[in-house]
Amino acid sequence: MSSTAVTGIGELVTCDGTGPDLLGIHSNAALVVEDGLIAWIGSTAAAPAADSRIDVGGRAIIPGFVDSHSHLVFAGDRSTEFAARMTGQPYDGGGIGVTVAATRAATDDELTRLLGLRIDELRALGTATVEIKSGYGLTVSDEVRALRIARRFTTETTFLGAHVIPAEYDGDRAGYVDLVTGPMLQAAAPYARWIDVFCEPHSPHAFDAEEARSVLAAGAEAGLGLRVHANQLGPGPGVRLAVELGAASVDHCTYLGDADVDALAAAAETTVATLLPGVEFCTRSPYPDAARLVDAGVSLALATDCNPGTCYSSSMPWVISLAVRELGLTPAQALLAATAGSAKSLRRTDIGRLVLGNRADLTVLDAPSYLHLAYRPGVPIARVLNDDGFTRQRASARP
Ligand code: NIG
Ligand code: FE
Repeated sequence: MSSTAVTGIGELVTCDGTGPDLLGIHSNAALVVEDGLIAWIGSTAAAPAADSRIDVGGRAIIPGFVDSHSHLVFAGDRSTEFAARMTGQPYDGGGIGVTVAATRAATDDELTRLLGLRIDELRALGTATVEIKSGYGLTVSDEVRALRIARRFTTETTFLGAHVIPAEYDGDRAGYVDLVTGPMLQAAAPYARWIDVFCEPHSPHAFDAEEARSVLAAGAEAGLGLRVHANQLGPGPGVRLAVELGAASVDHCTYLGDADVDALAAAAETTVATLLPGVEFCTRSPYPDAARLVDAGVSLALATDCNPGTCYSSSMPWVISLAVRELGLTPAQALLAATAGSAKSLRRTDIGRLVLGNRADLTVLDAPSYLHLAYRPGVPIARVLNDDGFTRQRASARP
């Protein structure tokens, strides 16, 4: 057993649900990590002896961000699509096919290398846990390949065969849904914890309510937890479907009616609304009204949705600054949504909160307070604190 004392923490934000704003803040704090878990929390003056010691010199420490929605296994580039959007072209999901073609053409080594670089990037921005979806393969072997590669970096892998109808199934939507709910699901399930579907009647490429229901029902039958992309491009049935089926998370929630908000509020213990404001930023869409959701009692998470089409950013601090500036969340609400809230959306209690026995996923800020996350937009003040101090260490892939 090895122990490390982390001392000199000017502001330790535990996000444990106690105290003002539920942030559980300790000043002039220290904590002891034993075998990767939090073994002790108290004042620096009272810190017990440990095998090694890291002094963070008055900086703030927060729980490592939990990015509960990403699409990081892909090849290719869609910067010209982004540029066209900035001059008025609307987003309808059609560009996904471009990434599917580039991803299918890439070798395993290339996809692994690209994913490793993206994981390094998000850790350097303070993210400790990331969920990764497939969805740019859309054949049995390409979806399984994406999940196998993602599994080398995270246990939070999501089968998204129902991302769009691939070109080769044009005119045969039912045939593709049969593939996804049959042989593709069977092959993918051993490598996935979750299943997701892009339920979006406003995109000709995505899935309607009945198709989404079949995909989610088959996933549940195969033992996978449920997540849904819903209400991204316009009002629709996805949010209520997700609640009805007991999904852990319904993501985007850009266009919500009163019935959607009521359903989410009633299901707050089960279903988390995951907001992705980087997508609204990068697609020039209206932002959801998060303050209305908080008032109604909805459980909220924040995530990047990092993907080559609608938001090519892995920065949770940037997402927090958008949530504060554009969604109407307080800095405290935004931090809770990016840590404990997104952990809840993954049905995890061992991450997202710095409490005894939890994983010691610590993110250090080059700042005296968590308020600087929103106060210093675009400045890289957050990074995962590794055992060996402040060095940015390459995330190691499991063999
Ligand atoms: O979450 N909505 C569907 N999927 C992604 C976009 C993927 C892409 O455009 O490549 C999203 O926004
Ligand atoms: Fe997404």
